[in-house]
Amino acid sequence: MNDDSGDALEHLKWVKSPALNQWNNRRLLEARQLIYETTGELYETKRLQMLPLDERFGMWVLSDGRKDYGILWAMKLNQQTARVLAFSVSIDLQGKGFGGQGWSTFAQTAKNLGIKRVQLEVRQDNDPAIQLYHRRGLRPRGYITGFYRGHDGWLMMGPLRVQPSSQ
Ligand SMILES: CC(C)(COP(=O)(O)OP(=O)(O)OC[C@H]1O[C@@H](n2cnc3c(N)ncnc32)[C@H](O)[C@@H]1OP(=O)(O)O)[C@@H](O)C(=O)NCCC(=O)NCCS
Repeated sequence: MNDDSGDALEHLKWVKSPALNQWNNRRLLEARQLIYETTGELYETKRLQMLPLDERFGMWVLSDGRKDYGILWAMKLNQQTARVLAFSVSIDLQGKGFGGQGWSTFAQTAKNLGIKRVQLEVRQDNDPAIQLYHRRGLRPRGYITGFYRGHDGWLMMGPLRVQPSSQ
């Protein structure tokens, strides 16, 4: 696929996916690969299938109808709080606005279902993601040592916002 072709990009949309236990092995392996390429984190597909994703607001894929180019997975922590467990856009497609679109899609849907707050963990050296979350109102609220393979991380929390602000 030519990532820069307008046509190819136009067909990409964030859509709700079926529950992960209904995904076939190929799709799971591709999601595992996407997570690995974008974060360096390697998960067993069986472990991915056990994630307690919320069926109404927590299972999004960036798809062209055939293949997934991004994921945004979230769970419900309590009545008003969502926790984002995975957020990745394929490397070739990063920086084109798809991540922001994914966040808005997730946030609007969760908001409509009464969710008011969101939290997540992010590696402390992941400046672009920290900035993205910051512009959406999340702030570091706790420091997690050895969060992943010796890397420290921030626990970020905040109100659930659909649109970013300039700071
Ligand atoms: C984080 C991620 C999902 C964002 O997706 P994306 O498609 O790149 O995001 P966008 O193109 O919508 O850009 C998001 C914001 O970052 C800004 N941005 C994009 N590329 C940037 C760059 N190279 N440097 C600085 N800012 C950048 C955009 O202007 C945009 O600003 P906004 O907050 O005002 O909307 C994606 O970059 C990714 O998969 N990263 C690796 C995995 C990861 O770190 N996930 C988060 C783990 S907690």
